[in-house]
Amino acid sequence: MSAAALVVLTGAGISQESGLDTFRDPNGIWSKYRVEDVATPEAFARDPCKVHAFYNMRRRNLLAGHVKPNAAHAALAELERRWPGEFLLVTQNIDDLHERAGSTRLIHMHGEMRKVRCTACGAVVPNDTDLSVDAACDACAKAGGLRPHVVWFGEMPLEMARIGEALSGCDLFVSIGTSGNVYPAASFVAEANAAGARTVELNLEPSLARSHFAETRYGKATEIVPAFVAEVLATH
Ligand code: APR
Repeated sequence: MSAAALVVLTGAGISQESGLDTFRDPNGIWSKYRVEDVATPEAFARDPCKVHAFYNMRRRNLLAGHVKPNAAHAALAELERRWPGEFLLVTQNIDDLHERAGSTRLIHMHGEMRKVRCTACGAVVPNDTDLSVDAACDACAKAGGLRPHVVWFGEMPLEMARIGEALSGCDLFVSIGTSGNVYPAASFVAEANAAGARTVELNLEPSLARSHFAETRYGKATEIVPAFVAEVLATH
């Protein structure tokens, strides 16, 4: 019998203890900004300066020295290193804390804050500087066509075919630090259940998808994720 296949989904809650705001907690990002103003293609077409300022602020915050991967990120990197079967980490987060913790088999389904996309030539390249409406593309040199490499509301998340394939074949699905508010990520547990997988929710509090999980554990990610990883490695 082949080793079990594992898919992990993470959301903003896994980065909260690293100092990055979540979206829907009290004082979360969407309590300070309107999605319609900063996180849709229409917002970018209407006021690109405002959208650039929103992501420039978040990128600067991510790159500030105090923001580092936490014990939950580290536990998932260890899980990937030691897992005997297929492993895929799908994150809704656009920070790079999973990479910095050592995760490699990773999909950023909502894009990445430290990359920029050219709407003229399609190039996606690393970028740690503030973007502006007149910045030029490194690949095609065209100015004014750069946008954050981030998936906005109303756009299709990235790598959905690869994610669907992993879910359809997984034996264990673990969701960490996500409220279950946003699709298609919130439907992944249903796909895992349909594949006959063991489904586990690790979160600070029950998510909207709570009823779809066979097992749930609640607490801070830096506490419950390392404990769960130790337990699941001991039994696989
Ligand atoms: N440990 C564990 N879970 C936590 C912690 C913590 N320290 N802090 C917060 N949480 C949980 C919250 O209880 C909540 O259920 O993390 C979840 C965060 O939910 P959201 O703020 O809705 O973030 P997320 O689910 O990642 O949002 C999904 O929505 O706005 C879009 O594109 C954005 O990727 C994002 C998507």
